[in-house]
Amino acid sequence: MDHVLTPWVAQAGRKAPVIVRGEGSYLYDDAGNRYLDLSAGLVAVNLGHGHAGVASAIGEQAARLGYCAPSLGNDTRSALARAIAEIGPWAEGARVFFTTGGGEANEDAVKFARAMSGRHKILTAYRSFHGSAPGAGSLTGENRRWPNEPGMPGIVRFFAPFPYRSPFHTRDANEEVDRAIAHLEEIVRYEGGERIAALLIEPVIGSNGVIVFPDGYLKRVRELCDRHGILLIFDEVMTGFGRTGEAFASQRFGVAPDILTFAKGVTSAYVPLGGVAVRESLAKFFDAHPLPSGHTFSGHPVAAAAGLAAIEAYRNEGLFARARVVEGWLRSRFDALAERHRIIGEARGVGAFFGLELVTDRDTREPLVEWQGGKTLHSLFGDLLARGLYIYGRYNVIVVSPPLTIGEAELDEAMTIFDEAFAEFAKIPKAG
Ligand SMILES: Cc1ncc(COP(=O)(O)O)c(C=O)c1O
Repeated sequence: MDHVLTPWVAQAGRKAPVIVRGEGSYLYDDAGNRYLDLSAGLVAVNLGHGHAGVASAIGEQAARLGYCAPSLGNDTRSALARAIAEIGPWAEGARVFFTTGGGEANEDAVKFARAMSGRHKILTAYRSFHGSAPGAGSLTGENRRWPNEPGMPGIVRFFAPFPYRSPFHTRDANEEVDRAIAHLEEIVRYEGGERIAALLIEPVIGSNGVIVFPDGYLKRVRELCDRHGILLIFDEVMTGFGRTGEAFASQRFGVAPDILTFAKGVTSAYVPLGGVAVRESLAKFFDAHPLPSGHTFSGHPVAAAAGLAAIEAYRNEGLFARARVVEGWLRSRFDALAERHRIIGEARGVGAFFGLELVTDRDTREPLVEWQGGKTLHSLFGDLLARGLYIYGRYNVIVVSPPLTIGEAELDEAMTIFDEAFAEFAKIPKAG
């Protein structure tokens, strides 16, 4: 019997390979089988597995100083905060509060926004994920929130654009943006703009389908927030650290938030670490007001050492820019794959971050299994794994987010596996 409780699933009968080693884009199990890690874990291992620089930085830091309280200064922690401010989207600079993960970072960002604004309400999108602990779970706009309900009060949800399945009844991208902004304005009017502390959004919707907003949407959200004095928080837990082809999606889309949360790729997932970056002019607020949060592991030196080494590796290996090269590779391969398999309704993405939306019928766009209602495609994911491809996904969307170091030959290997698995799956299209 395994004594581990695994997230989100009923435990009985669960089967998964026991991973004991990782190298580059590959994972290895205890029987010596190899799996191509096409989702970089959970959109996190941006450097690939077994990066020697990060591993030795972790070891050296642990030997020199394994821990010191957050109330004391620490050289490694300060250096990482500076490095993040330097690669962040603000010319004015930023200050960083560290957490242990992404959900905690979102909860703290909300606390900061409430403290700084003196307002209470928070806007978040449906089809979003911001974490699973009670606070972050409440911010989440899908069914992983439900076990938390009624949850944290004061959260108001809106629909963001989703061109492939428009909540605004259009197939025109400009109209989608116009209507999404009008909808948001209406919500702000009915909630009272002067009562809204912040709007929290993933600049690319991640686990809810890898949805890239049409041009102009985020910019107009920024303008709307400015008109009402609402702070804009980008949840860059998935999109940060090169995933979209820039350090942050903020830079890829040319829209700077007021607060940016991150986790995952900051250490290439080698050590748990998250954080809240606050642009300098706002962070000054806390010069005169006590910071309303704290954690034992805030700015843990070993995690900070991993973060510093990861950022150095991203820089030295040119990996943020490389995500744009990977984007080209993925786009051309998925276009070809979609020609062969009608099960692919849409392949969409930006940088090294793509979603394959699977449908029963390309014309009607009927999803292969209902989002939030049906079962995730366990048989398909299981088959891909059995063929040597680890992939993350939910319901009818496969999330493709390889390590930024992935090569073309590895992508070709993945396409061969997709080809075989989709062909097989097409014979049983309704299987869940
Ligand atoms: C966009 C986003 N925000 C927050 C989180 C939660 O991060 P964590 O699991 O580190 O708490 C996730 C996790 O996948 C995420 O995708």
